[in-house]
Amino acid sequence: MDNSKIKRYTVTAALPYTNGPVHIGHLAGVYLPADTYVRYLRSNKRDVKFICGSDENGVPITLKAKREGVTPQVIVDRYHKIIGDSFRDFGVSFDIYHRTSSLMHHKTASEFFENLYEKGVFTEEVTEQYYDEKAQTFLADRYITGTCPKCGNEHAYGDQCESCGSTLNATDLINPKSTLSGEKPVRKETKNWFLPLDKYEDQLRTYIESHKEWKPNVSGQCQSWLNAGLQPRAMTRDLDWGVKVPVKDAEGKVLYVWFDAPIGYISATKELFEYARLDVWNPKAEEYYINKNTLTKGKWEDYWKDDETKLVHFIGKDNIVFHCVIFPAMLMAHGGYNLADNVPANEFLNLEGEKISTSKNWAVWLNEYLEEFKDKQDVLRYVLTATAPETKDNDFTWKDFQARNNNELVAILGNFINRVTVLTHKYFAGKVPMCMEITPVDQAVIDELAAYPARISASIENYRFREALMEVMNVARLGNKYLAETEPWKVIKTDEDRVRTILNISLQIAANIEILIEPFLPFTADKLMKMLNYGGHQWENAGQINLLHRGHQLNEPHLLFEKIEDEEVQAQIDKLNKSKSDNLLSTAVEVAPAKEDIQFEQFGAIDIRVATIIAAEKVEKTKKLLKLTVDTGIDQRTVVSGIAEFFKPEDIVGQQVSLVVNLAPREIKGILSQGMILMSENSEGKLTFVAPVANHGNGSVIR
Ligand code: 2FM
Ligand code: ZN
Repeated sequence: MDNSKIKRYTVTAALPYTNGPVHIGHLAGVYLPADTYVRYLRSNKRDVKFICGSDENGVPITLKAKREGVTPQVIVDRYHKIIGDSFRDFGVSFDIYHRTSSLMHHKTASEFFENLYEKGVFTEEVTEQYYDEKAQTFLADRYITGTCPKCGNEHAYGDQCESCGSTLNATDLINPKSTLSGEKPVRKETKNWFLPLDKYEDQLRTYIESHKEWKPNVSGQCQSWLNAGLQPRAMTRDLDWGVKVPVKDAEGKVLYVWFDAPIGYISATKELFEYARLDVWNPKAEEYYINKNTLTKGKWEDYWKDDETKLVHFIGKDNIVFHCVIFPAMLMAHGGYNLADNVPANEFLNLEGEKISTSKNWAVWLNEYLEEFKDKQDVLRYVLTATAPETKDNDFTWKDFQARNNNELVAILGNFINRVTVLTHKYFAGKVPMCMEITPVDQAVIDELAAYPARISASIENYRFREALMEVMNVARLGNKYLAETEPWKVIKTDEDRVRTILNISLQIAANIEILIEPFLPFTADKLMKMLNYGGHQWENAGQINLLHRGHQLNEPHLLFEKIEDEEVQAQIDKLNKSKSDNLLSTAVEVAPAKEDIQFEQFGAIDIRVATIIAAEKVEKTKKLLKLTVDTGIDQRTVVSGIAEFFKPEDIVGQQVSLVVNLAPREIKGILSQGMILMSENSEGKLTFVAPVANHGNGSVIR
């Protein structure tokens, strides 16, 4: 959208499921980039509403409630507060953090459905769906898991495979299993209302193709769905928790959570303006975390229906199809609504080399972080933005967290601010000295400083927050370099006027940092604002060197950041390791039963040897297969092995393995495979090699 045409912004952040607290992956992937973007817009005096809320419907909630033996309401009340408080405490500056269990949402989502229903958009179909006879319930979405027909992931959900990102119907799954009872489900007929996505295919294609500026991961996923051909998709479910289907003959049915959740953005906006309109104390304001500082009167419709409003959805990559295909199709079917101008989805953040997992407690929970690292919100904001998974999955490690705090925040940013404020207090009683004669060295710094704001703006407006933050840190580097070159602590002995100029310019750099860093590190900006006795985060002032006037009194200096010691991060690593060992103990309980007995001769007939992988390459057009050349001590031979999802070819050359050498050769994808590598598989389906712990020569017998 052409910047000059934009009158206002509606920025949404994915509504998190209210079935657990939020962790660093949520923050890095969605909420920090969104908050940075919104803070930047506000600093530019743009009219913006930042919308989010709890996603309280759907199977993730009822499943959690069933597991705990409580009602879904107990679950959503508990986690709405924990999540809302975490966002508030981390400075995520929503205008409203609403709830999809609210009356406003139920009303808005029902009306939306009725509108489409009355227009005859839906098709009503009786189909066979999976049913758990033991639990006496239909199995939709996360109530059912099985193997993804597209990528072979054995833990795909009934509506989506998180491994390859495909949207699925429960009936597509291979080997389906009820997550409620573990039983194999039966099929039973039921009526549902389907959104014929296929009818919107052309319109969706035109929409998506008109946004060449979208991130390649987003456009790529959209293209592959369109190319695969869109299918009608059920928008209702046989469940008793959620928004009731508001039409006749729909008892016991609710809206599909992915139908109602994105409408949650609209209902939250309505709630916000309703609150502003009534202008009275409203007990819900606190529950919905309404930001009274940014409240404006107006019409919610302006933020959703006016074509001079830019709509941006911040989401994680598993939400792309819902925001780029299904929700736009719903909006097209309804009519009158804007479509998103951009959907800057991020990839995933891993933790210490492994996928973040709620069920395995392999996560850094925001509420726990805040208890353990009190007042260090900005350290996490900094590290997560500096390593954000913008273009590919990325890894968070506690060692990196410590290093970035100590070597970047403390040593670069904190150090610069500390030096300049302490020196000003020491030499000039904390009053901004006058800028005297400007030398070429000063002018070069002034010119360099002036160029930063536009560069940082461009990065933020193009959703490149890592790059933008790096540039802000470069302003602090510029300040440090300037002080190191001009050495005011030495010059003070001979030329006080020169020091006046140096500190004046350095203080102007500090005031610039206050403005430029606020979208990223708001707590630090506030501290800096207090120290400089200046601020208000106005981007239009950035780049200038007259922000602090001569004689302006600074407040007492304080350190912005503290060193993080080895013990503090080790405690976090130990905590994760404990989760891992707890998991191993609990997974050990779920071991598969032993197979039937065999005779010794039968086992003795299997010839297993130590061998070494000496070459490895992917088998073309397959996701799982690697072609390996192994040295068995007897010979060198080819083995095709289904391990490509777990190992990169270059990482396993030199790996010792256990190989069944007398398995009859088999042709796999046109390659003759001579043997089988033994692998250990955990309950998640993750594979690892079974190899001798000491280096035994190739050909050694395993028995
Ligand atoms: O993936 C999730 O956590 C979903 N609850 C996101 C919903 S986003 C929106 F559409 F509400
Ligand atoms: Zn898949």
